[in-house]
Amino acid sequence: MEAEPKFELASNRNELRYWRRMKILVTGAAGFIGSNFVRYELGQYADVSVAALDSLTYAGNMENLAGLDGDKRFEFIKADISSPIDMGRVFGAHEFDAIVNFAAETHVDRSLMDASIFIQTNMFGVQNLLDQCRKRGVRRFLQVSTDEVYGSLGAEGKFSEDSPIQPNNPYAATKAAADLLVRAAYKSHGIEAVITRCANNFGPYQFPEKLIPLMIANAVEDKQLPVYGDGMHVRDWIYVEDHCSAVDVVLRKSEPGKIYNIGGNHDVPNIHVVKTILKALDKPESLIRYVADRPGHDRRYAMDSLKLREELGWDTKHTFDTAIAATVRWYLDNRGWWERVRSGEYVKYYESLYGERLKSQ
Ligand code: NAD
Ligand code: TYD
Repeated sequence: MEAEPKFELASNRNELRYWRRMKILVTGAAGFIGSNFVRYELGQYADVSVAALDSLTYAGNMENLAGLDGDKRFEFIKADISSPIDMGRVFGAHEFDAIVNFAAETHVDRSLMDASIFIQTNMFGVQNLLDQCRKRGVRRFLQVSTDEVYGSLGAEGKFSEDSPIQPNNPYAATKAAADLLVRAAYKSHGIEAVITRCANNFGPYQFPEKLIPLMIANAVEDKQLPVYGDGMHVRDWIYVEDHCSAVDVVLRKSEPGKIYNIGGNHDVPNIHVVKTILKALDKPESLIRYVADRPGHDRRYAMDSLKLREELGWDTKHTFDTAIAATVRWYLDNRGWWERVRSGEYVKYYESLYGERLKSQ
């Protein structure tokens, strides 16, 4: 019997949507978006297999991948993308058709305390992955990037893919550097790389250092809600599942070398988000504390994702109102998950970031 072809390519050689039995390496898979993406892929495609790689930093949590162990299409690999030795071992033992890189240090406030691990993972780590793509001939590399690489907007307008790269904090600077390394790998070595830049995500499994899960957890425990500055900084919010579907469409359909913005089309001031959470939990606004602002705090983000909609036919499926209600519900139903996360190192982190700020109010 003739062997079934591994890939059935569409007429356009670069169009991956007809790939069969694609094996994807998902890095940062035990984090917030990575774990949601692993579940999304396994849920959407019977013939996909996923190698979920993570070094399990404070933000990586095997509980985020609970229940997937029994799935033959899933395997977990503990490895550090910034270690050439780890990467040599992983790529020597597996053959991947595509890599989706979520692995990163991701919290702006932590990058303001110490940027070194951000440089290590977000820059060296990405270059390591690109080197392996080149060495092993991996067909596709998707770098998951962020709107923060563009810096801050004034009162009007949105970021397009042509907006200048002007990061304002160490996290954003390392993500911007990674985007440039990916561009260079595409231009110099023909690595079939693509970049997605997404707005602020929210949803299940988000580490409670980020605005939405932090405010939900604090409000549930009747703790103060620390809002930076005047609370009028604007973020564009997208439900994590909509981000996953966008990454999936770019992974399978984009031409190499392209960049796509991903936005939720819901840009609102932080204070509005915080008050929405309090309302959903039936908690008083007196829990809100306006605290000293974050240094270099970007005033406004808003994403224009027209290119992704028009070229690849993507759209969001969730409204902010239904998604925030579902997210609040998830945190209420999974209190054990975030209570376990908010112990140990987290307690020290919280005290060093918020202790003085909250005392001086
Ligand atoms: P997260 O912090 O929840 O998860 C990051 C994961 O990467 C963790 O599981 C961590 O253990 C892992 N990791 C860190 N260093 C590693 C290393 N050296 N080797 C292997 N694994 C390592 O972050 P997230 O919110 O899920 O973000 C995922 C990606 O999406 C990041 O690249 C981030 O820049 C990007 N992004 C996030 C948002 C957002 O709103 N959260 C928005 C746009 C883009
Ligand atoms: P965050 O979730 O850290 O994401 P990012 O900095 O990547 O946008 O913060 C979202 C917004 O919420 C940002 O404007 C900072 C603000 N913020 C607060 O006001 N208080 C907080 O305790 C945190 C964590 C964030």
